[in-house]
Amino acid sequence: MRINEDTVLRGQRVLLVPYEPHHVPRYHEWMKSEELQKLTASEPLTLEQEYNMQRSWREDPDKCTFIILDALQWEQGCPEEQCMVGDVNLFLTESENPGLAEIEIMIAEPVFRGRGFGEESVRLMLFYGVTALGISTFEAKIGLENVTSIRLFHKLHFQDVSLSQVFQEMTLRWEVTEPERQWLAPSSPVMMTTYKEIQRNINNSKLGQSRSDVSSDVKSV
Ligand SMILES: CC(C)(COP(=O)(O)OP(=O)(O)OC[C@H]1O[C@@H](n2cnc3c(N)ncnc32)[C@H](O)[C@@H]1OP(=O)(O)O)[C@@H](O)C(=O)NCCC(=O)NCCS
Repeated sequence: MRINEDTVLRGQRVLLVPYEPHHVPRYHEWMKSEELQKLTASEPLTLEQEYNMQRSWREDPDKCTFIILDALQWEQGCPEEQCMVGDVNLFLTESENPGLAEIEIMIAEPVFRGRGFGEESVRLMLFYGVTALGISTFEAKIGLENVTSIRLFHKLHFQDVSLSQVFQEMTLRWEVTEPERQWLAPSSPVMMTTYKEIQRNINNSKLGQSRSDVSSDVKSV
C-alpha cells in the first residue's frame, strides 16, 4: 500500500519504518528459519521472490507493512539492516469490507522476544490502522500451539471467535468500539514522522547531529 510508504511510527522501544529494498536480504535470511516459517505459516521464498514480495507490499492496495527497528540501537547510529528485529502487517482481506484487517506480527530475532517489542509494535499498528486506515475490526489467525502469540493478542483485548481443527489455528478479533479506542490511545503515545525526513536527518547526523536529536523532531499525535 502506498499510503504508508513515507510513514515512520515511533514508540518507546521500537521504530516502525516502511519495508524498503535494503531490508530484503536480512528479511530473507530470517525466513530461512523453519521455526519462523511454521510460526508465521509462511513458505520459503528465493531472494528474487522476496524482492518481488517487498514490491507487492509497497504497491498492493490491500497490504500494509512496517519493519520493526530497535529504537535504542537505531538512535545510536546502527544501520537499519542491522537493527531490524521483525515486521508487523495488515491485510485488508475483504474488498467489500475495507474496515476489516488481518494483523500479523513477527519478532524474528530471538534475543528481542519477551522484551515488549511485539506488544508495542502491535499497539502501534492498531493505532495506525484505526487512525490512518479507518479499520474498525482486526483479526489475528494464530496456530493453536503458538501460546505466546495467543497470550499477546488476548492481552491486547482480542477475543476468540473460531477454531479450525483442519488448519490447527484459531481466529481472534478486536472490535474498535469507543471504549476500546480510548483504551488504545492513552497506552500508546505514538509519534509520527516521514521516512524522507528521518533519512535527511540521518545524513545530518553524519555531519554531527545525533539520532536522538533526530527522534526529538518526531511529532506526537
Ligand atoms: C509472538 C511474538 C510476536 C510475541 O512478541 P514478544 O515481543 O516476544 O512479546 P512481548 O515481550 O511484547 O510480550 C507481550 C505479551 O505476550 C505474551 N508472551 C510473551 N512471551 C511469552 C512467552 N514466552 N510465553 C507466554 N506468553 C508470552 C505475554 O502475554 C506478554 O505479556 P506480559 O509480559 O505482560 O506477560 C514473538 O514472540 C514472535 O514473533 N515469535 C515468533 C513469530 C510468531 O510466533 N509470530 C506470531 C504469528 S501468529
